[in-house]
Amino acid sequence: MPRIAYVNGRYVPHADATVHIEDRGYQFADGVYEVCEVARGYIVDMTPHLDRLDRSLRELRISWPMSRKALEIVMAEVIRRNHVENGMVYLQVTRGVAPRDHYFPAANTAPAIVVTAKRIDPHASATKAQAGVKVITLPDNRWERVDIKSVGLLPNVLAKQKAREAGATEAWFIDADGKVTEGASTNAWIVTSDGTLVTRPAEHGILRGVTRTTVMDVAAKLGLKVEERAFTVEEALKAKEAFITAATTLVMPVVAIDDKPVANGHPGETALSLRAAFFDVAEKTQA
Ligand code: PDD
Repeated sequence: MPRIAYVNGRYVPHADATVHIEDRGYQFADGVYEVCEVARGYIVDMTPHLDRLDRSLRELRISWPMSRKALEIVMAEVIRRNHVENGMVYLQVTRGVAPRDHYFPAANTAPAIVVTAKRIDPHASATKAQAGVKVITLPDNRWERVDIKSVGLLPNVLAKQKAREAGATEAWFIDADGKVTEGASTNAWIVTSDGTLVTRPAEHGILRGVTRTTVMDVAAKLGLKVEERAFTVEEALKAKEAFITAATTLVMPVVAIDDKPVANGHPGETALSLRAAFFDVAEKTQA
């Protein structure tokens, strides 16, 4: 069964799913994206993901490619056509197709939209969480507007590949003050000795992760305190636990940073209980 994508108004097999060579996403990374988890047939936290898409589009002055309601229908249809019960739905909107020129194209240029979905084995992620993952650290060399979920991800791609080559899963970016900003595709957290969750404020330097926000709700439900402040790698190494969050990754324990163990080098209880309670707290929309 071929995978089906939605591309600018049509549902097409991936083999035929193409965009124009002068799509501004291709030429300038002039576009934004969202990744939503699909779990047990539900789209997880669709409302906050589409709210963030709206914000990213507004920040870049790109208009919606269709109404929000229509996009919700397309997302559900792509999930249905690909028989995704567990996995993800990806959407990308660019400023559209126009002769290459840095200036914005004519006002009547239609934004381009692609929606894809794929299956992910939920057991693989659960097994990974039981073992925990390793991270490396790298200087944060990204632009200042990482709050926008732009498809311009070259520093993230290079960081992630470096992590893989070092036998790790994720790279944590470090700012000029020696504080952790976030992972290349995840938000970063620690749990202090008194059980407080610590994560960087989302006002500056990080993407406001949807999973991050839901984990705060999960923490409230479990009676855990959350402190929004930056932390150093030294503090993370001395912490009781560390973990990362993102759509589909959910809450993933971090057991080593730059090959040094976090606490006893095993996944922490807090991370695993946040992970276990996540689905109950998150918004679920039938796909
Ligand atoms: N990444 N920070 C960065 C830089 C990210 O790319 C992501 C998500 C997050 C977590 O955001 P959320 O909880 O809303 O998924 C934080 C997605 C999953 C990706 O690029 O594939």
